[in-house]
Amino acid sequence: MLRFYTAGESHGQGLLTFLSGLPAGLPVDAGFINHELHRRQLGYGRGGRQKIEKDAADIFAGVRLGQTIGAPIALRIENRDWQNWEKILPVGASDAQETQSRKLTAPRPGHADLAGSQKFNFHDARFVLERASARETAARVAAGAFAKLLLKEFGTEIASHVIQVGHVRLERGAKWEEIRAVCGDLNSPLRCVDAAVEEKMKAEVDAALKAGDTVGGVFEVVARNVPVGLGSHAQWDEKLDGRLAQALMSVQAVKGVEIGAGILAAGSYGSEVMDEISYDKGERKFRRSSNRAGGLEGGITNGEDVVIRGYLKPISTLRKAMGTADMVTKEPVRAAYERSDWCVVPAGGVAGEAMVALVLADAFLQKFGGDSLAEMRRNFESYGRQIDEF
Ligand SMILES: Cc1cc2nc3c(=O)[nH]c(=O)nc-3n(C[C@H](O)[C@H](O)[C@H](O)COP(=O)(O)O)c2cc1C
Repeated sequence: MLRFYTAGESHGQGLLTFLSGLPAGLPVDAGFINHELHRRQLGYGRGGRQKIEKDAADIFAGVRLGQTIGAPIALRIENRDWQNWEKILPVGASDAQETQSRKLTAPRPGHADLAGSQKFNFHDARFVLERASARETAARVAAGAFAKLLLKEFGTEIASHVIQVGHVRLERGAKWEEIRAVCGDLNSPLRCVDAAVEEKMKAEVDAALKAGDTVGGVFEVVARNVPVGLGSHAQWDEKLDGRLAQALMSVQAVKGVEIGAGILAAGSYGSEVMDEISYDKGERKFRRSSNRAGGLEGGITNGEDVVIRGYLKPISTLRKAMGTADMVTKEPVRAAYERSDWCVVPAGGVAGEAMVALVLADAFLQKFGGDSLAEMRRNFESYGRQIDEF
């Protein structure tokens, strides 16, 4: 239903996003889209690039008079760094000295450099790394902002926070209000809900920088006010937990995804894991005693918060470069170093929010779809009555 594509390289002219499937009549707040792009650029442990770029989305198509018109949406985010790369990576053929000097033949372990070069038959990892780069997440965040705008129309909100950086972990649960507050706090260095833990996280980031090393961590994305019944148990590819996991895993450097208490649950007894169900006769609502399932049972949303975590490996580009083999000479060398972040967990969370929003918006459209927002709203309200009367 909701499809999106991105195009663009890290040091090309810019990034493009195409988004298709949104209903007509959705109010579009361009300021919100740019605010989301700005949030992706923040975080303690980012490299110099975030200082050069101030991302902003130009809406080219699909939005008129401040709302969607049911046509595909096209967006462009300019790469402000392009002026420094125009001679290095021109579109036309070139053997200029600038181009030659930026060839990358010492593939960096942990990047797509070598596997991608072998696959596409380049002896220069530049062409691979330019697209593999997480700069692409800016295009996703722009698409995700549209998905968030749609979800907001139905009362669904999405926020993320950081629960681990390197070896430092937030050992307590976080309330929705705390997550929401820290998520919107542009001055929060690592978007952790606990200031004391955040200080320790910062020290971890500082230690990594000092050692020429990098750190990973864990972000948690929470979606609140998600209706019962998105996704389905009926086919493997309709299960919403599977779709969310794939979406989150596709974010650069995410190497593990957890829904609810998934990882802890594997080493616990069943009685310690399942959320007991009761019925509140006054409110005429089913309730759960806890939300260890993370809002999903059998691949279907159960009305609790959807809680999903992305586990990020440490950044692959190290100043303390690791051993590799040159792709041309085949001799042992140290891996190339490109200007790089050394901790991106909060930014990973923003990309994660976007991916969760896109999957949930798609599931909304499948369940309540209509050509206009008004039609979708009618379907949503009618289904709401069915749930109320259940
Ligand atoms: C927001 C964000 C920013 C990133 N910035 C960098 C970076 O500056 N340097 C780097 O080596 N990797 C960075 N990464 C991770 C790499 O893009 C990623 O590890 C690499 O493309 C290989 O993909 P894989 O780790 O998913 O296998 C970043 C990831 C995210 C989510």
